[in-house]
Amino acid sequence: MSTDAPTREMTPDEAGLVFVTPEAYADEALFDAACAVLRRDDPIHLVEHPDFAPFHVITRHADVLEIELHNTQWANAPKPVLSNLEADRRREEQGDLLRTLIHMDDPDHRTYRNVASEWFLPKNLGKLDANLAELATRSADKMVELGGRCDFARDIAMQYPLQVILKILGLPESDYPRMLQLTQELFGAADDELGRGQSLEDLVAVVNDFFVYFAALTEERRANPTDDLASAIANATIADENGDQQPLGVMETISYYVIVATAGHDTTASAMAGGMQALIENPDQLQRLRDDPSLIGTAVDEIIRWVTPVKHFMRNCTEPYDLGGHHFEPGDAVLLSYPSANRDEAVYPDPFRFDVGRAPNKHLAFGFGVHYCLGAMLARMEIRALLTELVPRLRSIELDGTPELMKTLFVGGLKRLPVRYELS
Ligand code: HEM
Repeated sequence: MSTDAPTREMTPDEAGLVFVTPEAYADEALFDAACAVLRRDDPIHLVEHPDFAPFHVITRHADVLEIELHNTQWANAPKPVLSNLEADRRREEQGDLLRTLIHMDDPDHRTYRNVASEWFLPKNLGKLDANLAELATRSADKMVELGGRCDFARDIAMQYPLQVILKILGLPESDYPRMLQLTQELFGAADDELGRGQSLEDLVAVVNDFFVYFAALTEERRANPTDDLASAIANATIADENGDQQPLGVMETISYYVIVATAGHDTTASAMAGGMQALIENPDQLQRLRDDPSLIGTAVDEIIRWVTPVKHFMRNCTEPYDLGGHHFEPGDAVLLSYPSANRDEAVYPDPFRFDVGRAPNKHLAFGFGVHYCLGAMLARMEIRALLTELVPRLRSIELDGTPELMKTLFVGGLKRLPVRYELS
């Protein structure tokens, strides 16, 4: 599909193609227009494309919520994320490359989620506050060092959440560049600047590199446990069918590191960069935050709604289900469009207004129900720490070039945000 600005309104069939077109996610106006057409005219729309098995895209907030809440009828397996026919075939023949929480359903999902869920509870995360504040200060100081001009997406936003997540995992700082590269190769596969390549072999090679890295880490933490999250994962046990405790399987252990290292990184970085762009383009909202820092809490959630870094998850029907005049049968797949749900006119009186004081703000950027983002609180804390540091120090900030979005179908946001600023 062309990503040129449409001269007439799209038909629902044309609009549906944005969900299989990585370039469309890099063209916000086109993407928003397509979602608006579907929400209004065909909110549960069948997408048909020769490279993909047919699926329905769910564009309204209420319908996304309903499917997320009915996790018995709507499972994550076998296809939690949109894949093309070639990848579907490979999965059927050889199984998944990874087995993370997002690939699982109950009862396994609950068991495996419990392995790390304690780590993400407020009592544990609270201990990180001082680290986050320090990393946020380092980010602001780096902006000063960069002399009033930088690429905020690459120089600041990409670095900070990676440092947080790798600190939690307990990895040495010398390994950070490697993790940054591997994460971007995993999520940026559809973007020729970020990904290693689009072929399946390229993806397998990236996953293999993660395996090699994390297999060594597991061995090390089993031999010398510390109090980091990597040790908790490496040494976790779960009951087998006889009730005996066993270590996690190799695939599950490594998948756990991969999901923590990757899910907590590009997502939060995209929210930070997109949030900064929104504040630059809405200087009255930046001023409101300067005048009243108590709005930072609502600003964080508005930024996450505004950016919605995770573009979709899929759900797979397990028993006959009726929704919005559609009948679904087991095996049918739906794509939950979080950016569309978060711009739903039925929920948000003025969805295209960036409002740092927005309340209530029941966005679905972290999903909902049993798979609700494990790192939601951590992500909020990180963005809050950065705003708390930056807002009072930023005397001025403006664009210094054209922001550029990643081409993606899954997780995405700005890959470039050139800015000019005065920071104390
Ligand atoms: C702004 C940042 C973030 C956004 C927008 C985001 C979004 C999401 C979404 C939409 C899901 C799927 C929810 C569903 O299926 O209902 C998810 C799951 C998950 N997220 Fe996040 N996330 C963010 C940050 C983080 C961070 C910092 C971590 C920390 C490691 C993290 C770890 C996870 C994990 C482990 C899952 C799988 C949960 C499960 O399947 O049970 N995320 N996230």
